[in-house]
Amino acid sequence: MISTSTAALQLTVKLLLLPLWLLSFLGIWGPFSSLFFPYIMNCLAKEYSVKMIKRKRDLFFNLQDFPRHNAKLTVLEIGCGTGVNFQFYPKGSRVICVDRNRHFDKFLSENAKKYPHLQVEKVVSPAEDLNGVADGSVDAVVCTLVLCSVNNVQKVLNEVVRVLKPGGTFYFMEHVVADPSTWTYFFQQIIDPLWWYIADGCCLIRNTAKYLEESGFSDLKVRHMQAPLKLHLVRPHIVGYAVK
Ligand SMILES: C[S@@+](CC[C@H](N)C(=O)[O-])C[C@H]1O[C@@H](n2cnc3c(N)ncnc32)[C@H](O)[C@@H]1O
Repeated sequence: MISTSTAALQLTVKLLLLPLWLLSFLGIWGPFSSLFFPYIMNCLAKEYSVKMIKRKRDLFFNLQDFPRHNAKLTVLEIGCGTGVNFQFYPKGSRVICVDRNRHFDKFLSENAKKYPHLQVEKVVSPAEDLNGVADGSVDAVVCTLVLCSVNNVQKVLNEVVRVLKPGGTFYFMEHVVADPSTWTYFFQQIIDPLWWYIADGCCLIRNTAKYLEESGFSDLKVRHMQAPLKLHLVRPHIVGYAVK
């Protein structure tokens, strides 16, 4: 529940954003945003990776245990962006990189060159529809800072469950809505409509853990944490994994 004053402030922000809404409605803002967002992420992702490196290492450490019987590890990364997670994948892994924004390609290819031991394959597609990936065909799915931006979280998670092998693992690290008793929550509610435009469809107030709980994984481990980031709005995070 949000108070009347919060709702009034939200309405004011939405009214101020009418020019952006119009540009979006006319189909101008979307392509412009998709074009410049990879440049922003290329800068921000580096700082984020430095601050979160230990958490990411902890999260991905047991990727080494897959797959059994000496077969090659197949990882599918959704919303791979510039490829910041390549550093965590074991040598010889096959990495299927899915992103809806083809303008990330340049950064992804440059980054892939630093990891010649990985077999990187790029797919431009929304994660809501991974029709090129067969049922039960991947050992692990990775998703960092993506579920905040997808159009339909439930559809994406359904696809994750479909493509994972039985016993396969979904690893996630996502910024989420803050605790309602905090100022961060208040500011998230006010700034969210603006954020959506400047961060290529990202939502500050998504309760991603709730979607994960309803997605039919056999085992789900979710840890809520405050990421050590300068921007308080994106500090509330969930980190964890889910097993099919
Ligand atoms: C904030 S960036 C995060 C990039 C990278 N995962 C990281 O940790 O730096 C979000 C990424 O998800 C992609 N994305 C958002 N919604 C998507 C969807 N429905 N399907 C595929 N990719 C999506 C965006 O294009 C962008 O590359």
